[in-house]
Amino acid sequence: MICLGNICRSPLAEGLMRSKLNFTKFMVDSAGTSNGHKGQAPDKRSIAVARKNGIDISQQKSRQLVKRDFKVYDYLYVMDGSNYLDVIAMASDEEEMKKVIKIMDEVFPDENLDVPDPYYGGSQGFENVYRMLDQATDLIRKKIDK
Ligand code: 4NP
Repeated sequence: MICLGNICRSPLAEGLMRSKLNFTKFMVDSAGTSNGHKGQAPDKRSIAVARKNGIDISQQKSRQLVKRDFKVYDYLYVMDGSNYLDVIAMASDEEEMKKVIKIMDEVFPDENLDVPDPYYGGSQGFENVYRMLDQATDLIRKKIDK
């Protein structure tokens, strides 16, 4: 699960996805395309909306995406078009490019929807992000956990 800072959107996506998959069968992680928040816990507003929904993301630490992630993971879900371009630019070949998916494409395949960056807004933005990612991670679970 990938966003820009790995403190707002992708920590929520990681927490949600983790809560829906069997940990003995799947590996879930998140990262940022930037290293601006390296080592930091998620944004308080992300921690709050997750907690309200019974998910604890407070122990996560921001890290930057590395090329090795393309080898380790089968899917690299990005939150928006800007993340998509940044991540595609790090892929080594066609096979790695195919792993990169805009997460809302799982819900609305033809609409090219972004999960909007909530950083500069209020708590409503985080509620909205949570709702979108809850939908998307439900469908990802159905797709991969057969
Ligand atoms: P995220 O949100 O990419 O969802 O973690 C952001 C967090 C921090 C900044 C931008 C987006 N920032 O500019 O510091």
